Amino acid sequence: MTVAGLETIGATLVIGAAGFMGRFIAEASLDSGRPTFVLVRDGPISPSKSLVIKSLQDKGAMLVQGVLKEKECMAKILREKEIEVVISVVGGATILDQIPLVHAIKAVPTVKRFLASEFGHDVDRANPVEPGLTMYLEKRAVRRAIEEAAIPYTHICCNSIASWPYYDNTHPSEAAPPIDRFQIYGDGTVKAYFVSGYDIGRLTMKAINDPRTLNKIVHFRPSCNYLNMNELAALWQDKIGRTLPRVTVTEDHLLAIAAEMCIPRSIVASFTHDIFIKGCQVDFDIEGHNEVEILDLYPDETYQTVDECFQEFAVKMNQGEETQSNEKTKMEILPIQALMVNQ
Ligand SMILES: NC(=O)c1ccc[n+]([C@@H]2O[C@H](COP(=O)([O-])OP(=O)(O)OC[C@H]3O[C@@H](n4cnc5c(N)ncnc54)[C@H](OP(=O)(O)O)[C@@H]3O)[C@@H](O)[C@H]2O)c1
Repeated sequence: MTVAGLETIGATLVIGAAGFMGRFIAEASLDSGRPTFVLVRDGPISPSKSLVIKSLQDKGAMLVQGVLKEKECMAKILREKEIEVVISVVGGATILDQIPLVHAIKAVPTVKRFLASEFGHDVDRANPVEPGLTMYLEKRAVRRAIEEAAIPYTHICCNSIASWPYYDNTHPSEAAPPIDRFQIYGDGTVKAYFVSGYDIGRLTMKAINDPRTLNKIVHFRPSCNYLNMNELAALWQDKIGRTLPRVTVTEDHLLAIAAEMCIPRSIVASFTHDIFIKGCQVDFDIEGHNEVEILDLYPDETYQTVDECFQEFAVKMNQGEETQSNEKTKMEILPIQALMVNQ
């Protein structure tokens, strides 16, 4: 299946499209004009997820039912739907479930690119404390399986999603920055790179169609969004027009929360420690033969700034807008079959 104007890329299969990161990817795939299939599994689907799936269907996504862990099942889908790009955005608990998928892709040579569920840091470089480390060990195992199978891949290392980086919130870009006080990690001077979900999706779709990203790690380091906690706090104060008190969250406190091994909270604390205390996003240069910088690939691209993202939060707050998640809870739980009819 080939889309007019896109000679080399056909259908995309997104696995985990209803998840936090997955919806940005699936929407970007649809926006790019590619035929987009979304893997769903059998069984009940939560109200929030069914809303996301429905909205993707309304934009043209096609649902396909299957079991990620079953190689034959996935190979059949890849063949029958003539999938050329597979993008996995499964969450932390199911990272290793991608290994049978790697073998399925190996068995279907018409697949031109696989993007595993990365979408964060370079997991071969970063070494967070536990329990974040276990997730990275699993992501590394998927990388090794991909290399061993010699399937075509691209790893997207997009760094932090543009938002206030709460250390106890798995999906920070869904929450506005604080309005009572800032919790600043350490002295607040360690920098990180922030990229909006929209830009992560958009640039991921651009990268998969680019021969320069074949078998490469692609780093997202937009200089306009290279900020530390103190700078983020100043930006938000400008938006709300007042100064908030600041409390220091110490390294020891983050390590203590990580050590509680309460999942997913402790995982987020371990990543927060790695980013804002150890500086894991900025303590290396991109110079390996197998890695590229998105800015070097597409120097003319512009990025949504954190300032713009904060402005959107401030506008919503002023309008007293009901949050998306509140809206979602009003829907009833549906069996997945209810979403698969009429497609
Ligand atoms: N850079 C950042 O700031 C950032 C932030 C968050 C996440 N990430 C990364 O993005 C990736 C995705 O994380 P996330 O937080 O978006 O995950 P998530 O919200 O938990 O979503 C994962 C999705 O995958 C689906 N899924 C999992 N196993 C599946 C299976 N076997 N078959 C079909 N669907 C399956 C889940 O469906 P169900 O609901 O049915 O389980 C869910 O919709 C991870 O690699 C994570 O590390 C990066």
